[in-house]
Amino acid sequence: MLEKIRNFAIIAHIDHGKSTLADRFLEITQTIPSEKLLPQYLDRLSLERERGITIKMQPVRMNYKGYVLNLIDTPGHSDFSYEVSRALACVEGAILLIDGTQGIQAQTFYNLKLAQELGLVIIPVINKIDLKTIELDSLVKDITQLVGCREEDIYLISAKLGTGVEELLEAIIEKIPPPQNNNILINDKENSSLALIFDSHFDNYRGIIAHIRVFRGKIIKDQIYYLLSNNFKFKSLEVGVFTPEMKKTDVLSAGEIGYLATGVKELFDERNELINVFKIGDTISDNNNSQPIKGYQEPVHIVFANIYPSEEISYEKFKDNILKLKLNDWAVKIEPSTSPIWGRGYTIGCLGLLHLDIFQERLKREFNVNVIITLPSVKYEIVLKNGKKIKIENINDLPDFSKIEEIREPWAEVEIFTSLNYIELVSNLIKNKRGIIKEQKTLTSFLIIKAEIPIDELLTGFYDDLKSLTSGYASLNWKFLEYRQGNLVKLDILVAEEVQPALSRLVVKDKAEEIGRKIIVELKKMLPREQFPVKLQAAIGKKIIARETIPALKKDVAGWLYGGDITRKMKLWQKQKRGKKKLEKLGKGKVKIPNEVIIKILRLK
Ligand code: GTP
Repeated sequence: MLEKIRNFAIIAHIDHGKSTLADRFLEITQTIPSEKLLPQYLDRLSLERERGITIKMQPVRMNYKGYVLNLIDTPGHSDFSYEVSRALACVEGAILLIDGTQGIQAQTFYNLKLAQELGLVIIPVINKIDLKTIELDSLVKDITQLVGCREEDIYLISAKLGTGVEELLEAIIEKIPPPQNNNILINDKENSSLALIFDSHFDNYRGIIAHIRVFRGKIIKDQIYYLLSNNFKFKSLEVGVFTPEMKKTDVLSAGEIGYLATGVKELFDERNELINVFKIGDTISDNNNSQPIKGYQEPVHIVFANIYPSEEISYEKFKDNILKLKLNDWAVKIEPSTSPIWGRGYTIGCLGLLHLDIFQERLKREFNVNVIITLPSVKYEIVLKNGKKIKIENINDLPDFSKIEEIREPWAEVEIFTSLNYIELVSNLIKNKRGIIKEQKTLTSFLIIKAEIPIDELLTGFYDDLKSLTSGYASLNWKFLEYRQGNLVKLDILVAEEVQPALSRLVVKDKAEEIGRKIIVELKKMLPREQFPVKLQAAIGKKIIARETIPALKKDVAGWLYGGDITRKMKLWQKQKRGKKKLEKLGKGKVKIPNEVIIKILRLK
């Protein structure tokens, strides 16, 4: 049986055609009848279809010429690279798909490195050969160098038209080995059943559904299993495969990819905290003394934000749904936090602003939960004049400035990977963001820069700037370094004369005015007009450093009076003015800032 299984993933930079290639596979293997095959079939979330990007990895089992082919389609955007790394741990081979018109890009390189570290067989493929603008010769040469393969190992296809796709399926069977242990079993001599959890989701009837790859033995229904990291015990309710819908089977044997329904519905442990019990990367086994399979590294979080339930839902419902979504978006980090203004909520860590955006949008769509999002923030260390040191996370907890001796902010050590072409742009960006370049290393046409930078700069758009400057051709890793003194002041934003705590931030003194101006100019563009003029102000303490006004919605009260009678017109205008004054008074502080606007303001620096 093992001999007849092939497990593989498609990896690529964003938009290079993974989902379209998966469509052709589903068609040729007749997994999905042609009439039901919508384009990008494996992008199953409505959000994925709407935005045209893959967010989630998606496994699917196909049958072809007597073989079982387990494909995992992966996202291409770097914010979702954690999905890719988990998918790769479950397969023996990867198709490295490169859009011929775009060539090698950052995620091509990054994902290839992940696959090579795991020792996977790589099948390099150039896609979109139906387009005439491809310079094949130089691209083929670059790929041979990058992958370390021969020219004849590279496959040329058009995922759209299907050209070369059957040959690629044959290559998968021929070149990718049947399931092996991927060197991730620590003790090969035991005989207990072992499965790695690579993803999960919540099902109202069947509880937590673990997406698993079986590495040894078999997983069946109605059997007692354990999570090896914490000995959590449960009875399996159902096992099955992805077609891509869940389809029951009797057994999942070594080498197979499928799911196990745990029946577990409680998402809180005894401390009523997060589901510390259930973790992606954990091992399921029928023997609680087995050695676990090597798990995954923790993802590196780049953007943090505080989220709180909006008025219409209870905290309990909010918490329950956040945890359910977390089961399906493991890269997100969640920690309880409380705000004096918004009450109980969570600080969430994401892999980028797109990830944050998608997380809150999925909460809204899949769980009907609206949230309030506040600025992503770091923890500051405040040295008080009396010698005491305190740490604050919420800028609104800052003591009076007269009591503060020094504000220290956290710094990070970063490692940036990009192409040599961008050396100047990236160096300038680091300097503009108060960073210090420590080391530069070149590697063929690639560049690795090591630098130190305030974490606040990282959280508020550095990564997005980096990506847009380099056309997505950069990846970044970072870790905490130390606290350093910063010349910082608190910048408040007032809308309709009321401070908006969600928009307050600590900023470098020299840049305060520039940043304050930028924020209110953007707010002016983004906030809808009201019946009254809305004042927008940026302030440091009581001092206003920038101001704008959103004019009131205009209503031509005197328009119906043709020609002459200017006194009547004046009267009407005066009356309108008085009405507006009244409204203005009524409207003070009554402007609600939509979440989308807050997220956009987060990007400003
Ligand atoms: P992400 O999952 O978001 O990373 O994208 P993807 O890699 O899955 O790319 P997708 O399959 O969504 O394709 C991106 C675009 O390229 C779509 O507009 C496809 O129609 C187009 N495309 C894919 N393959 C081909 C091809 O062989 N030829 C041409 N001309 N267009 C293609």
